[in-house]
Amino acid sequence: MTVDAPAKPTANPNAPFYRLGGAPVFEAICNRFYDLMEQDPAYAELRAMHAPDLAPMRESLPKFLAGWAGGPRDWFEANPGRCMMSIHKPFTITKDTAGQWAEAMERAIADVAPEPADMAKAMGEVLGDLARGMGR
Ligand code: HEM
Repeated sequence: MTVDAPAKPTANPNAPFYRLGGAPVFEAICNRFYDLMEQDPAYAELRAMHAPDLAPMRESLPKFLAGWAGGPRDWFEANPGRCMMSIHKPFTITKDTAGQWAEAMERAIADVAPEPADMAKAMGEVLGDLARGMGR
């Protein structure tokens, strides 16, 4: 008897995406992140690098982070071959703007305060380190 492989890998319920609360939590974090970017003058330089309309990024970043955190990979399937390098190549990311991204994301995660808190904090630190590592 042959057993058909599933069309897609089965979701791992232990992945951070699911443990932290799934799509509603990732959407809340990204909305808070872009709210901070729009409202707090400390992130004005970062804001100015983005398109005038942040609505597409409010859609896109939570989907990217979902796949990155072990959840649904729709963004990656819709964007074959796109990676962090190719996305950000057109932009000059300074240490300042990288630090603004990292701080706004760490704040957004802290404000949404998903559980488990230690996993949420760890995700903020990893994203913060990733962003700071992109600054030149
Ligand atoms: C280090 C500082 C960073 C800066 C200054 C930055 C800046 C930008 C800018 C200007 C865009 C284009 C969006 C627009 O024009 O509105 C963009 C796109 C994007 N960024 Fe960043 N970014 C940074 C870090 C990150 C990090 C750490 C991640 C993810 C972990 C990330 C994920 C993305 C994604 C997924 C897109 C494209 C989304 C899409 O087109 O579907 N960025 N970024």
